[in-house]
Amino acid sequence: MDKRIAEARARLGTATIVLGHHYQRDEVVQFADATGDSYKLSKTAAETNAQYIVFCGVHFMAESADILAREGQQVILPDLNAGCSMADMAEISQVEDCWETLERMGLAEETIPLTYINSAASIKAFCGEHGGLVCTSSNAGRAFNWAFARGKRILFLPDQHLGRNTGYAMSIGLEEMAVWDPWAIQGGQTRENLAASRVVLWKGHCAVHQRFLPRHVDEVRAKYPGIQVIAHPECRWEVCQKADALGSTERLLALIDQAPAGSMFAVGTEIHLVNRMAKRFAAQGKKVITLDDTGCLCTTMYRISPQHLAWALENLAEGRVVNRIAVRPEVKRLARVALDRMLEV
Ligand code: 13P
Ligand code: SF4
Repeated sequence: MDKRIAEARARLGTATIVLGHHYQRDEVVQFADATGDSYKLSKTAAETNAQYIVFCGVHFMAESADILAREGQQVILPDLNAGCSMADMAEISQVEDCWETLERMGLAEETIPLTYINSAASIKAFCGEHGGLVCTSSNAGRAFNWAFARGKRILFLPDQHLGRNTGYAMSIGLEEMAVWDPWAIQGGQTRENLAASRVVLWKGHCAVHQRFLPRHVDEVRAKYPGIQVIAHPECRWEVCQKADALGSTERLLALIDQAPAGSMFAVGTEIHLVNRMAKRFAAQGKKVITLDDTGCLCTTMYRISPQHLAWALENLAEGRVVNRIAVRPEVKRLARVALDRMLEV
């Protein structure tokens, strides 16, 4: 596979760029021209001149790249099964129902919809259309500030944990953040509760990050005195409160990179990245372990296999575009508004 991928890559030259998210497996990420967190990869996708953008990541990332792409650029997701279970927890019809309820209660006008980039293009378009924006885990705080300069309340989609962690870091109390359950009547909320909330958190989560528990932090601290616990803000609030630092995948890497030799880290994020960190930083005399040693992989990121990458690149080299991700133009226009606002903040 390595040989086939390398040959196809060489035939394609600079007309193709391969982007790899940090959660990709080593066998795939070794072929990436650029790696990064969601923010960095969407910026790279927006800036590249390559005609073909082969996205080794998940569906919402490829959609975002297509929304930001210029005329003539095409985005390819090597396996269409590479979705994101968290993004699937907010469907556009459910978000529209929620908004209609807020309208009926007279609360929509003062509410700014803000979606994590881990969401379908239709939800980004919804945010664009209703005066809102997109954020990633690396700029959620700035996006909250942007929204609060324009409205009294944020409707945060679809990750309750990132929303709660971000709000709390801005001194918003837990009691000021209501959870909207899309499967309950009226979100499981009263008008009073919603009106009193500064953030309405959509009841979505990442199965990979929600596995980390506060007791894992206590256990690693007891076992490795002096260890620093760093976590992705998709982890639950109780874990984030106990951590020494939080950050996007790119920031977690930077935190370890900048630490002096001899440092020890327990990292609360996807296992492929943690394993790669352990190997890379061992050479600098730093120890990196997973926060929970039954650490879960992101099964959808894992869908991108060397076989899929070889297949997509070989087809491209033969002039055939397979697995193209193309967002419908009317959705694209409004989703672009929300993504451009993110790039501005
Ligand atoms: P980052 O933007 O931090 O890379 O996160 C993406 C993601 O899906 C985390 O689960
Ligand atoms: Fe989605 Fe979680 Fe996988 Fe990130 S780690 S892509 S949020 S399922």
